[in-house]
Amino acid sequence: MNNSVNIKNKIQPFRKSIKISGDKSLSIRCVLLASQAIGISKIKNLLESEDVLNTLKAIRSLGIKYLKRGQIYEIRGYGINGYKIKNKLIINAGNSGTLARLLTGLLVNIDSEIKIIGDKSLSKRDFKRVTEPLKLFGVNIKSTKGHLPLYIKGTKFLRPINYNENRGSAQCKSAVMLAGLKTPGITKIRAKKSRNHTEILFKNLKIPLKIKSGKKIDQISINGPNNFKSFNYEIPGDISSSAFFIVLTILSQRSKIIINNVNINESRIGIIKILNKMNCKIKLANKRLYKGEKIADIIVKSSNKIKSINCPPSLNSAAIDEFLVIFLVAAKAKGVSSFRSLGELNKKESPRLKIAVKFLKMIGIKVLNSGDNIKIYGNPRLFLTGNYVLKNYMKDHRVFMMSCVAALTFGGKWKINDKDSIKTSFPEFLKILRELGANIN
Ligand code: S3P
Repeated sequence: MNNSVNIKNKIQPFRKSIKISGDKSLSIRCVLLASQAIGISKIKNLLESEDVLNTLKAIRSLGIKYLKRGQIYEIRGYGINGYKIKNKLIINAGNSGTLARLLTGLLVNIDSEIKIIGDKSLSKRDFKRVTEPLKLFGVNIKSTKGHLPLYIKGTKFLRPINYNENRGSAQCKSAVMLAGLKTPGITKIRAKKSRNHTEILFKNLKIPLKIKSGKKIDQISINGPNNFKSFNYEIPGDISSSAFFIVLTILSQRSKIIINNVNINESRIGIIKILNKMNCKIKLANKRLYKGEKIADIIVKSSNKIKSINCPPSLNSAAIDEFLVIFLVAAKAKGVSSFRSLGELNKKESPRLKIAVKFLKMIGIKVLNSGDNIKIYGNPRLFLTGNYVLKNYMKDHRVFMMSCVAALTFGGKWKINDKDSIKTSFPEFLKILRELGANIN
């Protein structure tokens, strides 16, 4: 089957209001927490992407039943000791680091061995970052030289830990929080700032949690074990998926977009802060609070006077999934943009910093990359006329979507491979682009 798209024309000016599918981080967390709650949880606007469908499959293999009634997923949990495990269970996390890592935290009290596997991309990623802290709880967990497959055999004799999370990884922090939920005593985490959806959900579920929030570090303590009741939740739109349309609009001519009902949690809006510093026009309207999460409509207009940025690394974590498209804006800026300490970017679904360097060079942008830092020499008159073929190393969904945005705004004739990768996080991506008028074959 043909798994590539051809883009031969820039997108024409557009003015539209769109809705983006549900947030991936919240969708995965809600499914996992519902599977451990007592009673039936009801989740609306769940993202139906492969990462989330693999999360549903994972809880089903752990003996949890769910069904979809109309627009709502109903998941019946039996509490934090409620999983029923078949012998020799193998769970396939597919492409999802969030699923594989958070799940380890929920398996710490199960005393039969479970194997966790994933696709080629996930199998290259670092799992020591979760096996190391979980071992300290008394869990028998082995990786394969720091990678998948993972073998985990939990224990009834969990002991609380003090853990220092210094990468700014929400996945590691959340895995330890979920293990702490099951462990008698106080688990303490000193965590470099990262997305805080797990903390907000815990508070909603009335799980005893203390947070001392600093500028760069949060001190979190959980007094376990805790059961919690089932819940209802309506997932807001995903800022990481919205990012492609924010940048598409900024780089298009005379266009405007309203993206409705998006999660604008402070720990996720690095892209908005960075792009506004670059003189882009992004506004937030109808701000509201839903169960502790901030939501708003995002209004974006085209920008024709983009400025370069010296990006403060304090914004890295809150924009970590968006740098590929932020770099496209830097490519069109006046001046040299500099981004530092982006080592974590090379640990994603593909080594995204390295991929970005190759990509920008391919479209004629001067780039200096040394270690974890990148300097991008912007060209406000960037206008492509050549032919470009994008082979998507590791089939990274965000590399595919970033390339489509580049093709639709910079010009040139493009063949972009691995269209199916969008199923991971944003199956509706191409459909929405076409609704805006993009000509994609
Ligand atoms: C996520 C955390 C981030 C992010 C990923 C989703 C989460 O990963 O890149 O796409 O839902 O917790 P890290 O925790 O590895 O930084």
